Amino acid sequence: MWSLLLVAWAADAGRCPFSGQVRSDDYYSYSGDNSEYIASLANVSWAALKDEIKTFLKTSQDVWPADYGNYGPLFVRLAWHNAGSYRTSDGRGGVDGARQRFDPERSWDDNTNLDKARSLLYDVKRRWPEVSWGDLIVLTGNTAVESMGGPALGFCAGRVDDPNGDDSALLGPTEEQEVYAPCPTNGNCTVPLGSTTIGLIYLNPQGPMGEPDAVSSAGEVRDAFGRMAMNDSETVALIGGGHAFGKTHGACPAGAGPNPSEQPSDPWPGLCGTGKGVDAYTSGIEGPWTSRPTRWDNQYFQLLRDLEWTAYKGPGDAWQWEGGGPPAPSPDGNGTEPTMMMTSDVSLTADAAYVKLVEEFAADMGAFETAFTAAWYKLMTRDMGPITRCAKTDMLPPPQAFQYPLPPSTDAISNWTAVRVAIEDALNKTTLPVVARLAWSSASTYRRTDYLGGANGARVRFPPAKNWQANFGLDVAFRALQPVKDAFGDDLTWADLIVFAGGVALSMSSNGTFEVPPFCPGRSDATDGSGTEYLVPQLVGDANETALELKEIADRTGLTNRDYVALLGARHSLGFAVPPFRGQWTRDPYALDNAYFNTLLDTAWIRTVLDTGATQYVSPDGTLAMQTTDLNVKFDAELLAIAQDFAADNAEFLADLASAWTKLMNADRFDRPHCRL
Ligand code: HEM
Repeated sequence: MWSLLLVAWAADAGRCPFSGQVRSDDYYSYSGDNSEYIASLANVSWAALKDEIKTFLKTSQDVWPADYGNYGPLFVRLAWHNAGSYRTSDGRGGVDGARQRFDPERSWDDNTNLDKARSLLYDVKRRWPEVSWGDLIVLTGNTAVESMGGPALGFCAGRVDDPNGDDSALLGPTEEQEVYAPCPTNGNCTVPLGSTTIGLIYLNPQGPMGEPDAVSSAGEVRDAFGRMAMNDSETVALIGGGHAFGKTHGACPAGAGPNPSEQPSDPWPGLCGTGKGVDAYTSGIEGPWTSRPTRWDNQYFQLLRDLEWTAYKGPGDAWQWEGGGPPAPSPDGNGTEPTMMMTSDVSLTADAAYVKLVEEFAADMGAFETAFTAAWYKLMTRDMGPITRCAKTDMLPPPQAFQYPLPPSTDAISNWTAVRVAIEDALNKTTLPVVARLAWSSASTYRRTDYLGGANGARVRFPPAKNWQANFGLDVAFRALQPVKDAFGDDLTWADLIVFAGGVALSMSSNGTFEVPPFCPGRSDATDGSGTEYLVPQLVGDANETALELKEIADRTGLTNRDYVALLGARHSLGFAVPPFRGQWTRDPYALDNAYFNTLLDTAWIRTVLDTGATQYVSPDGTLAMQTTDLNVKFDAELLAIAQDFAADNAEFLADLASAWTKLMNADRFDRPHCRL
């Protein structure tokens, strides 16, 4: 039966093996499957949309007058603040989903007055309903830069809007964030949070904890940009490119900023004079950075390099810096206004590495433009995952390093039955558990938050994944599979072999009760482990692990709690714990069945600290051991209910395992969306 299925799918890779499955509307934003959305963009004329955006940017509205008669800077900030919430710690944040429209992000101090930008942009959005908010926000940011004389910027379309802000809950401030990643001193938040301050995109522009200390601010800038994988050159190019445009807003003393109101028609009224135009109050800092705030140039860097900057309290009672440089026109066209810098800008002159880049970009417009173009595209696109999730438009740049491109698939194997026979010949009872674990380790790095990781590429063969503690002993699996790899040579990629062999090993461990799960071939092999550095397993049995963490990681991996518990059950049905833990979970560590759940629920576990320092739980007779991860399943009400279901019914466990396994193994197949559950 299984071999017939395999042959059919391998022969017809374009057909959906899961047709008939009902998918909810939320499925598409949740799973990252944007193939339908991309197909719906086929008739969009991006050139016409950009033309419309250009006109829109130059058409000031009385409801929120454009500074200098040009909304360009406001929409550069809108795009940047949507993208800038991205963090590598868990892949959350970013423009994909356009969650800045919802709480918590829409109420961040840093997003003050961006409600006005989104309201203005709705005028365009309503005429282009097929284009998502996420894509429109990025394209408007790109068009704003280009229309003010900046370079042509790359665009990866394909963002599907989220129905709510739930996926930003862990960015805070929310109860979930308070529990999961508290920040005892706001302004000094640490990883996994993406910024030093909850509610700001990165850091306090006035300086650490509001003090105008440029040296310490440089440290914060590096820390905060580093949390989204930006290096020094990218950081400096982005800040100087962004602040080539527009101005800060702080015309009145502190407290005059927009406050939440009860009026639905004007939820964030400004309390400074008319509250808009020259009276606008956003950050409380006041003034433009350059004398030409709607023109693309490198004057920002020249002013930083050439002038002596001194801190003072501006009209909004916030710390800012004056340098006596050339004034800019007033935003309403009446008179002029002095240029200024913020502490975070001046910090770029207070750090040895940053100052070199400031000098380089001040002297070499070409170098600045090249660095900004690449960094902006990365900023906007980083959370979109592999390039296979981008619509193919003429604005799409070639694959970039941050997209971790893979070689094309060869699909050279036509007879997967022969591969299965070879795997069955190569494996024996003792290698089955580790081969199943290899497939799990390879695929479970996937995260739906930024579509990084997964089995495709088989990066588990390279550092850093190869050296992770959780992957201890996987060399045994590689050695067991080497004869199969040798027999099929380059035709068979490691990535396909690992996934396929994992399913075969599970089936063999169950004596055929568990059929080899549906297999979708076509994976290719990466040449190094890049991209994996952010994916180190966080659920490894540590004593301080919580059930909440388990649920968060299940969600991040794109799995339901039920999926995750089924997979954990399979993983811990088989084999032995890796150091620093010891022992086996079940009486027969070579049999795949629901014994794990019965053992977990029926045993009075005794907490033990091993000589390795690790805490684990042993059975009264000392023969079996579990880790904190397992015990969390027993003591969390929701996870317990799932474990009880599986303990009661082996067939149900194996059926749910089959679907969870197939989902996980194919979660990263954006190259072949029909393979994904
Ligand atoms: C404006 C902070 C990096 C683009 C502002 C404002 C602040 C700020 C406080 C003024 C808001 C207001 O009062 O209206 C920072 C900090 C950064 C940073 C602390 C990092 C250290 C960036 C980057 C970009 C950018 C990377 C884009 C690539 C802009 C633009 C404006 C702006 C275009 C002007 C908006 C307008 O004229 O309405 N930024 N920013 N900023 N920022 Fe940044």
